[in-house]
Amino acid sequence: MIQLAPSILSADFSKLAEDVKAAERGGAHLVHVDVMDGHFVPNISFGATVMKSLQGKTSMPFDVHLMIENPDQYLEDFNTPQTEYITVHQEACVHLHRTIQHIKALGVKAGVSLNPATPLETIEYVLGDLDMVLIMSVNPGFGGQSFIPSALEKVRKLVRMREERNLDFRIEIDGGAKLDNFEEIVNAGVEIVVAGSAVFKADDIEERTRQFTEKINQLEGR
Ligand code: DX5
Ligand code: ZN
Repeated sequence: MIQLAPSILSADFSKLAEDVKAAERGGAHLVHVDVMDGHFVPNISFGATVMKSLQGKTSMPFDVHLMIENPDQYLEDFNTPQTEYITVHQEACVHLHRTIQHIKALGVKAGVSLNPATPLETIEYVLGDLDMVLIMSVNPGFGGQSFIPSALEKVRKLVRMREERNLDFRIEIDGGAKLDNFEEIVNAGVEIVVAGSAVFKADDIEERTRQFTEKINQLEGR
């Protein structure tokens, strides 16, 4: 099952719930929540309060992407009844195994994200504990950047690692996903596609989301 996770980073915050509902009507599956602290990445976005303002306004689960230092300190804040995934960055966690166990102890699915330059081998020993691996296809910090092609090679390698070890985490990609590279992304083995500017900067958010979800239907029906 392929899922679309529109990132609210590119939404219009003066009408956030409206934008998210338009994406939901278009068939989106998850709300991707990009949290940036101005330390781990050179940008500040928003915190748990903004995410919580969407509780009950949409029935899509929250897919929380923490681009922050010391994520352990904030995990409880992002744990709501609507939170499906909390993803931390390998590069931000000194005790990654402990952080993953912390997320799971909250009853939330645990994800780990890798920056474009970070090898898959850095998560080799925790892969069996994960519900999701998020491969960054841009350097995190901003929406609207261009897709880095080597991310797909990484995805293909991760698919092989998962098969060899008979594991069942999901693979998500984040950054630069558009309608015109969507098929290539899915063909590489991605199961959750984040799209920020491609969805929320569209003139008609609902219609653009539908174009993505129609592509999913076509690809799944093949
Ligand atoms: C980048 C964020 C992404 C970003 C994607 O740091 O993690 O989720 O919002 O935006 P687009 O799809 O515009 O590249
Ligand atoms: Zn993200």
